[in-house]
Amino acid sequence: MAVLIPLPPTPTLETERLILRPLRLDDAPAIQREFGHWEIVRHLHAGIPWPYPADGAETNVRECLAARERGEQVFWVLTLKGGDDEAIGQIDLRPEIVGARDMRGFWLARAFWGRGLMTEAAERVTAYAFEDLGWPYLYLTNAAANEGSHRIKEKQGAELIDVTPADYVSGPGARETWILRREAWLARAPNTQAGSGSSRPGRDAT
Ligand SMILES: CC(C)(COP(=O)(O)OP(=O)(O)OC[C@H]1O[C@@H](n2cnc3c(N)ncnc32)[C@H](O)[C@@H]1OP(=O)(O)O)[C@@H](O)C(=O)NCCC(=O)NCCS
Repeated sequence: MAVLIPLPPTPTLETERLILRPLRLDDAPAIQREFGHWEIVRHLHAGIPWPYPADGAETNVRECLAARERGEQVFWVLTLKGGDDEAIGQIDLRPEIVGARDMRGFWLARAFWGRGLMTEAAERVTAYAFEDLGWPYLYLTNAAANEGSHRIKEKQGAELIDVTPADYVSGPGARETWILRREAWLARAPNTQAGSGSSRPGRDAT
């Protein structure tokens, strides 16, 4: 897949209930407070330090902003529409790196789980990848034990293509790899949980 690097500047995206805005350094305190919990990190890749260090979020945000500066990756924080602009989660996109097959990551603060918010954010970011960046597919992964993340892929119409051993913060496990194809996503019936505008599958590709 031919991908143009540097990626364009990160746009602010909107869904029915969320504003996805570019990650900033001053998001680090909210991320530190909400991310550094076992329930959040246990199904994430083993490279994440645990116990989560006191400067974990700031270190990571600085690394993310450097990758953004190089145009390699796109990072958003999730904020509630009509809220105080505080980050309640993150979602990012990265082009395919040969062999990596992992192009999106996300997490959400525990208080907001189970309301369909990450499905909404994932649909909007997927629309950006397919309609604005013109990517033909997204490779996606999750720990097989991560039922919520697995379900989001299923709901988006991704195909499970591989299950391989992998190390997570919680120890050895199995990694599911999926492919979400642009044409399959665009052809899907409109998803009532999706946000406004171009996050609705079925809309003509631009
Ligand atoms: C994974 C995560 C982002 C899901 O966020 P969320 O906003 O609660 O997800 P949604 O409400 O959009 O749920 C999506 C689907 O998954 C299901 N689901 C969510 N959490 C679940 C769980 N723990 N067990 C089983 N199903 C779950 C929901 O019921 C929903 O399916 P449905 O519409 O058929 O009912 C959140 O649990 C999280 O941040 N986890 C920790 C970080 C993480 O694992 N990130 C992903 C790494 S690959």
